[in-house]
Amino acid sequence: MMDIHEISGTTEVLGLIGNPVAHTLSPVIHNTLSEKLKRNMVYLPFPVKEDPVQAVRGAFHLGIRGMNVTVPHKTTVIPALSGIDPAAEVIGAVNTLVRTDEGFQGYNTDMPGLKRALAQKGISLSGKQVVILGAGGASRAAAALALFERASGVYLINRTKEKAEAIADDMKKHFDDHIIPLARDEYGRIPEKPSIFIQCTSLGLKGKEGLLIEDRDFYRRAEYGYDLVYNPAETPFLKLFNELGIPCDNGLTMLLYQGIIAYELWTGETVTNEMAAEVLVRLRRKVYGGNILLVGYMGSGKSTAGKALAERNGMNFLDTDIEIEKEQGCSIRRIFEEKGEEVFRDIETAYLDRLSKNAVKTVIATGGGMVLRRKNRELMKNTGKVVLLSASEETTFQRVKQDTGRPLLDSEGESELKARISRMMAARSAAYQAAADQVVETDGKTVDEILEEI
Ligand code: ATR
Repeated sequence: MMDIHEISGTTEVLGLIGNPVAHTLSPVIHNTLSEKLKRNMVYLPFPVKEDPVQAVRGAFHLGIRGMNVTVPHKTTVIPALSGIDPAAEVIGAVNTLVRTDEGFQGYNTDMPGLKRALAQKGISLSGKQVVILGAGGASRAAAALALFERASGVYLINRTKEKAEAIADDMKKHFDDHIIPLARDEYGRIPEKPSIFIQCTSLGLKGKEGLLIEDRDFYRRAEYGYDLVYNPAETPFLKLFNELGIPCDNGLTMLLYQGIIAYELWTGETVTNEMAAEVLVRLRRKVYGGNILLVGYMGSGKSTAGKALAERNGMNFLDTDIEIEKEQGCSIRRIFEEKGEEVFRDIETAYLDRLSKNAVKTVIATGGGMVLRRKNRELMKNTGKVVLLSASEETTFQRVKQDTGRPLLDSEGESELKARISRMMAARSAAYQAAADQVVETDGKTVDEILEEI
């Protein structure tokens, strides 16, 4: 989001109406895009309990630039609009309102959002057999996409067959190809040929375990699976696909692209793949949790404290030195000896760059020298909260003197080791301070006490 102090007389407002809207992720998407594209806009949630038509008319007269609409108003707002996009008409629901001189024009970006999410994975529904699980509101976007894309066959299975039939009947008005509605026990009628599966039921959401069809063999015909549910990250449907070795993704990318397409409609901007990837990282951290990076001199307790911190908070743990050794298939000592420190530092930067794009809900213990590069310090700040574990020279000496795995500390006797530690700490202290969002003194503290402070 833009800095709140930048809000001015010319700031434009975007927003979401729905009920409830308290848990919406849309502000993350749109405010990140405005920040990256340097647009003077803010996106806000508007909980609308009753009379969505009045709310939309009011929004128009307030000069609001664009709106998203979510449950339960996606259909009920339609009478307030000056017009509706043909694809939204087919789906029977709008989720995006674009300002025109006459009023708001309604669009549905769920369908093209799904299309773009699939396209990112090289998947297209054209000419494919498509199996859609569920017949709620979300299934309509999937069903319409399959028909627009000229899938070779579209099967819609639902616990309540009447709802699948209702969608199939609605779609008949708009397409020559037909959807085949099925009850759960009729899945045997679906030809056993390669298919794209789209999971649109609410099964998989927290507290709703299970699969619409329990027969694992049914899913073997899938060549790709997409689950509109994204929290938890691995739903039972996706777990099964992973076990069967079939490529699959969760619905976070559909959420992302429906938002991106709405933003493009409001502003005329084109959001690049690179920018989309940056927004996705923010979304992932918001949904699945952020990272904590531990920095500090060798022996500052990054691994011990890091593992305990991860355990306590249900986070993952990784140590960049260990991961780099695994990736390179070679010890850091050997990389130093054979290729030199610069090469190792380049490997470190490349590794950190990838972490900054992918890591979620992880405690990351970093190599002692990682903070030395300014570029690394920037990447670390983009990855999560950076905590410096600091220790005195004496404590550090006591902790590292047994350890022979540290190439920068090779030295002859204890006094030389002490002198080296002292020099190195003096040389690195400024970089550590510059990298840190928080400094925790560890001298004389137990692990529990350190965790409390973080
Ligand atoms: P949305 O608008 O997000 O698609 P919805 O309209 O509430 O949500 O639809 C939920 C979908 O999940 C429906 O297909 C629903 O099946 P029914 O039409 O039979 O209700 C399906 N669903 C929800 N809970 C289910 C369960 N326990 N077993 C099977 N299907 C379930």
